[in-house]
Order: sequence, then structure tokens, then C-alpha cells
Amino acid sequence: MLAKTAASGGPGLHPEVLAFSSSLALDLQLLREDLVGSLAHLTMLAECGIVPRAEAARIHAGLVALWHEHARGELRLPDEEDVHMAVEAELFRRLGDVAGLLHSARSRNDQIALDLRLHVREQCAEILGALSELVAALADRAEAELDTLLPSYTHRQRAQPISLGYLFTAYASMFARDADAFRFVLAQTDVMPLGVGAIAGTSLPTDRELTRRLLRFSALTANGLDTVGDRDFALDYSFAGARLMVHASRLATDFVDFTSTEFGFATLDGEIACGSSMMPQKKNPDVFELIRGKSGRAVGNLVGLLVTLKGLPAGYNRDLQEDRGPLLETGALVRSVLSILQLALSKVRFDRDRCRAAVAGDAMQATDLAEALVRTGLPFRTAYQIVGALVRRCQEAGVVLGTVTESFARAVDPRLDAKVLAAANPLKSVERKQSVGSTSPSSVKAQIAALRAAAQRTAADAQAIPRLAELFSALAEHKG
Ligand code: ARG
Repeated sequence: MLAKTAASGGPGLHPEVLAFSSSLALDLQLLREDLVGSLAHLTMLAECGIVPRAEAARIHAGLVALWHEHARGELRLPDEEDVHMAVEAELFRRLGDVAGLLHSARSRNDQIALDLRLHVREQCAEILGALSELVAALADRAEAELDTLLPSYTHRQRAQPISLGYLFTAYASMFARDADAFRFVLAQTDVMPLGVGAIAGTSLPTDRELTRRLLRFSALTANGLDTVGDRDFALDYSFAGARLMVHASRLATDFVDFTSTEFGFATLDGEIACGSSMMPQKKNPDVFELIRGKSGRAVGNLVGLLVTLKGLPAGYNRDLQEDRGPLLETGALVRSVLSILQLALSKVRFDRDRCRAAVAGDAMQATDLAEALVRTGLPFRTAYQIVGALVRRCQEAGVVLGTVTESFARAVDPRLDAKVLAAANPLKSVERKQSVGSTSPSSVKAQIAALRAAAQRTAADAQAIPRLAELFSALAEHKG
């Protein structure tokens, strides 16, 4: 069969070699991308007079039919090395030799570069849409928890009182940065590779600029030799995906901890708590553990892609086909995690009394006391030592810092007067923060407003990305 790359006249591929070298199983996820790319290429070939109009119309109809059959789940493609050869072989089967006109001025090397870029662009639209929803949901949750106090942690040791709203705006800030990272991915991806041929260009009178416009890319790749070996956009995409998953994983660890009996800050609704097959009492946070577990896969995909690329000489090398697994898994992983995260967060209930009790029963306001002394004119280091002495005295006497009396404190140091001691109130501790980006309610409200604006921008950017279905409709109209 033609498509089994036996063009040089030798025997067809050994079946074991075909099986070993085929990427078709994974490539089928790129079928829509491949068909859209072929429709644009065909339109360009016809406009440039490289394929006669009548023949172009037949190929056009063939490609459109494949798209619709695929959409209905009815398409079965022949067993070939990859999706490009499978489509070509199927067109040959249906149309005969006329199908051979389509591959003029194109190689599978630039074809796969295009399919992957179209795939990444499509995934970015979905991911940015989901990120905008997640950031908006976290901002809403932050607003609802502005008055819930809980401990913050450094070194997983209690640090200072914060509002739960502040924790939610922290997570939202991470995901808002991920939206920026995916915007960068989009910019790196928005360059059209098709038409550079196998490596050196083509002597046929093509018009890459027309193909670019049809596929709605912003620019053309500048050098064909670079183009066919370039997977930088795939690296950036895998990195953005891995980084997002690391954020999700860190959030997951907090929720695994917070829902444990040891912390007791939150409980999981039955719908998202998994049981144990042996221990009847268990309500396990498997969803959050799986988010954390899957983040390892995303990191592995990034590393795998880096290793695939590192030893390759300039130009196309078949090693590049090993980009497929990592690249195709990235979008699926990220989208599933963004979706389940939104669901899971809506099913976590915080126990406000327990959170507040954890804050009140500790010495987390020590820094606030020190700052109150600084306001009386003491150097911070002196204040730090005075409060340190008070905290040690409290520990010896079994007294909670927030409840010490003035006489108790003055016995440690006379500068610890009632005015200074007022700073030991956990609520005041949170309210009094003045720095930009702090846990004070006014600062968290400002953060929420900024995050909502960022979520809206992200949604608008996601909307503006050209989608495969739109491209197909426009190209299907544009009769070959
Ligand atoms: N299946 C190949 C890949 O995914 C397409 C390009 C193949 N090019 C070649 N000359 N064998 O990378």
C-alpha cells in the first residue's frame, strides 16, 4: 500500500517495524487538527494553481466527509504509520490517484508540527476557560471566608493568624499566574509551520501567507530547518501544565492535612470522601491525594519531553514522535484536575469554630505584640526579645498569650502595658495588617477584586482563540 512509505520502491515495512514505529493510536487524537490543516493546505494549493480546481473540489469533499464521519464516531482509518498516512491512504481508497495531489509542497514533518500547534492552541482555549472559572470560584470563596480566622504556617509550624479568605486568594493568585503562563504558551504556539516542507522549503509556487490566514495564526515560522525540529512550544506547554499541577498539588496537601483529625479544620462532603474497604469509619481525601499524585505525571511529561529533545541534531528526527504521549497527556491531565478541583472545593466545609480555636489557643500573635512595642519607639530586636520572654513565661505558667493580664505581662517587662497587650487579640492581629498584599480584610478585598478582573481577562482571552470547529466550518465553506 502506498501509504506505508514504500515510495522508494522497496518492499513494504515489516509488520513488526510498522507496529514498533506507528504513532497512529495516539495520533488519532490529532485527527481533527490534521483534517483542518489539510483543508487549509488544499485551499492554498488550489488558489496557487498547484492543484486544479476540479480535483481540489473532490479532495475537499473527501476531507469534509472524513471530519463528519469522525464526529459521528463512524470513521475507521487504515492501519498506517501515523495519522497523516492514514488519512492519505483513506483518501486514496475513496478517491483514487487524485488523492495524491494533496501532499504537494508539504511533508509529514511540517504537518505534525502544525497538528501539534493546533492541538496546543485548542487545549489552551479550554485550559484558560477552566482557569478563569477556578480563579473566579476561589475569589468567591475568599469573599465568603473573610472573617474566618485560622493559623498560617511556615515550616508547617503555626506562624501568624490569617483569614481563610487570604488562603483562598493565595491559591487564586497561583492559578492566575498559570493563566499568564498559558498566555505565553499561546504566544509561542501562534506561529504557522506548514509549507516549509521536509526541511529546506519547496520549489513550487506556494503561498504560506494564505495558509497562515486560513488557519488564523499570527505569523509564519521563519526557518524551515528549525521549524521541523522545533518543539519549544510543546516544552512551554508542558512546563505551564506541570507548574499548574504543582500548584494544585500544594493546595491538595493543605486539604489532606486540614481534613485530618490532627488539624480538624475542614470536613469533606460524603460525595467526595472515599471510604476504606476495611476500616468502616474512614472518610478519606482520595480526590486531593490523586490530584497530588497526578501532578507527578505532569512533571514526568515535562522531563520526558526535555530528555527526548536534548540530543537531537538540527532538523527532523523520528525521536520527535515520542513527544506525542507527554504532549497529549498534558491537556487531559490539566483539564481533569481543574474541573475536579472546582467540584472538590465546593464540597469542603470549614469548621469556623475549630479554626478560630486553633488561633486563639496559640501564641501566633507574638509578632503583633512585638510590632506594638515597635510603635512605642523600641527597636524591633528589643521588642522581639521582650515578647520572646513573655511567650516563654506563658509556656511555663500554662497561660494562653491572648489571655495574659497586664500585671502578668508587666512582671516580665514593664513596657508590656495594656495598650501593647491589646495587639494580642487574634482578630485585631488580622485587621491591623497594613502592608499591600496582607491578610487584612481590606487587602483581601482588593486582592479579590484584582483576581476577578484577571479571571475576566482570562475568559475573554480564551474566547478569542480560534477553535478547530470554527476553522473547519470556514474551510468547509471555502470550496476547494
Ligand atoms: N509520525 C511522525 C511524527 O509523529 C510524522 C513525521 C514523520 N516523518 C518522517 N519523515 N518519517 O513525528
